[in-house]
Amino acid sequence: MKLDFAQLLPSIPFILEGLKVTLMIVGAAGILGFLFGIILSLFKISPVKPLVWFADAYTSVFRGTPLVLQLMIIFYGSPQLFGTQIEPYTAAILSFSLNSAAYISEIIRAGINAVDKGQKEAAMALGIPYSQTMKDIILPQAIKNILPALMNEFITLTKESAIVTVIGAMDVMRRSYMVGSDLYSFFEPLLLAGFIYYIMVMVLTLLGKLLERRLKGND
Ligand code: ARG
Repeated sequence: MKLDFAQLLPSIPFILEGLKVTLMIVGAAGILGFLFGIILSLFKISPVKPLVWFADAYTSVFRGTPLVLQLMIIFYGSPQLFGTQIEPYTAAILSFSLNSAAYISEIIRAGINAVDKGQKEAAMALGIPYSQTMKDIILPQAIKNILPALMNEFITLTKESAIVTVIGAMDVMRRSYMVGSDLYSFFEPLLLAGFIYYIMVMVLTLLGKLLERRLKGND
């Protein structure tokens, strides 16, 4: 196996520049997907049937089709969908958050159901309104239980973000690929990309562990 990392050196800053793009997309989509996922999960446990139907159908569609397809539909279909061509970054954030919300809503729904129902009954007996019971009593406990599953989702999101390369977003993946075609040698830049993604996932894993420990301390 012949490896020549020396020729890659001048291109490393160019590839690392893609980290900003990747982190921006993953960060924004993670936050938006989480918020939207909470709303969807509340729909799923709501007594209002149409809300349940909507949330279930939503999850079914977004989980039942490939993310790369959703990304392409939103990007290439944006003139039809929104009346104007949107930026690749906007399309990426939009499709990733919509997709992630489908998964996150299931995670949170499971977390909410796992909270002892005595908690809800006690809150009801004390006359605490439903919205406050959810916000201050049920959701904080649910979030603690589902932290590992949520971390999994953010890790998936980080790695899946590499598909934005197909719509031309200049992320780590696309830049590595471009450097590969410049050098007529793809192996080294792709290995570097793999290393960068791996480090990102390790950092996320570490943050998740720290957060988990901290929440445990609150018990
Ligand atoms: N490759 C899978 C797909 O295309 C990944 C979906 C994203 N997964 C997730 N947990 N957000 O459907």
